[in-house]
Amino acid sequence: MIDQRSILGALEAVHDPELHQSIVALNMVRDVNIDQNHVTVDIALTVEGCPLHQQITADVNRELKKIPEISEVTVTLSVMNEAERREAFSRAFQAAQAKKSGQQNSPPQSPTKASPPPTKAPTIGPLPGQGAATGMMADASSTVVIGVASGKGGVGKSTVTANLAIALSRSGARVGVMDMDIYGFSQGRMFGAKGQAQVNEQEKIIPWHLHGISLVSMGMFVEENQAIVWRGPMLGKMLQQFFSDVAWPELDYLLIDLPPGTGDVALDVAQKVRKAKLVLVTTPQEVASQVAHRAGDVATRARQEIIGVIENMSYVLCPHGDKLAVFGSGGGQKLADEFDVPLLGQIPLESEVREGGDRGLPITVTNPHSSSSDAFYQIARKIKEAVGQ
Ligand SMILES: Nc1ncnc2c1ncn2[C@@H]1O[C@H](COP(=O)(O)OP(=O)(O)O)[C@@H](O)[C@H]1O
Ligand SMILES: [Mg+2]
Repeated sequence: MIDQRSILGALEAVHDPELHQSIVALNMVRDVNIDQNHVTVDIALTVEGCPLHQQITADVNRELKKIPEISEVTVTLSVMNEAERREAFSRAFQAAQAKKSGQQNSPPQSPTKASPPPTKAPTIGPLPGQGAATGMMADASSTVVIGVASGKGGVGKSTVTANLAIALSRSGARVGVMDMDIYGFSQGRMFGAKGQAQVNEQEKIIPWHLHGISLVSMGMFVEENQAIVWRGPMLGKMLQQFFSDVAWPELDYLLIDLPPGTGDVALDVAQKVRKAKLVLVTTPQEVASQVAHRAGDVATRARQEIIGVIENMSYVLCPHGDKLAVFGSGGGQKLADEFDVPLLGQIPLESEVREGGDRGLPITVTNPHSSSSDAFYQIARKIKEAVGQ
């Protein structure tokens, strides 16, 4: 005799591939309908269009078919609302924390001390209440928050973030950078920052301060080549901590280096910081702009304003002034047209840009009159005009 209990029991074995928790514990199993040997279950996905839904569907099928009386399984999919999603993430987070503290066998790295003698750095953990954005993240604050997004890695998102920050700062603005690309954080290297997190007396993280920019990055907590094991739900908490537990100075602009793609972090930024705007970075290739389009789509669905598109590695400038389109052309303009936003600029491919990034000396600092620096300064001007600051 098949009953609801045996079905839920079987589904305990199905784990959400991203949250690593049973879909039963995460409350993703909704309607269970038993019609003789045919079972229909509705699974509520955490996010719409979750790319992993096929795996969940296959796993549900497999586990239920292990029950001999079941001959047919139908899986229908729905999507959690905001409150349910938070609840699921919070459950997964707590379970992961519990598991982690159980496994902890090496003590966490202790932060170096700032003066006056600080206490320990806050751990990356759950924060009380995930309420509305406060401080400079709040709608009422005049700080302009801009997420820098790309469809995929390697298109120069971090390079653009760092140089744009400097260009904005050199034109008189107070600028901060939040390196939220927590799997591929590189802003510490780009700015030449060293050392671990320091905290002030209020246990707030003190940003690095380099080339006039206040900077917070995962690199303050872990080495750049150290694998990060934190999964989806942890990212949200991490983000929250970067937002609320940092002793940011007053800023006119906060640039956020987002992870590539359309993952949770970008969504979280869109949800938590309602006023956050977005800049899309792409290379000129058609495929790259298609991939970036998906990142833009998420922004549109989250009702996030896209300021414009920056095309990077657009051309190589030849000695006689010719522009050689090594990576094709048109991708940036096409993407901008698709979202009906301006193409803010095209940055040439220059080896000095890469060298600057590797040495912690961005080209906008070392060679402010190079053609790429020119492009960055022009983009900064356009952004200032666009946001009215
Ligand atoms: N305009 C450019 N000219 C030359 N090299 C560049 C340029 N933009 C980025 N790079 C280099 O390309 C690599 C990828 O850039 P990065 O900013 O790390 O990309 P992402 O953050 O999108 O993964 C880095 O080595 C960087 O120095
Ligand atoms: Mg990067």
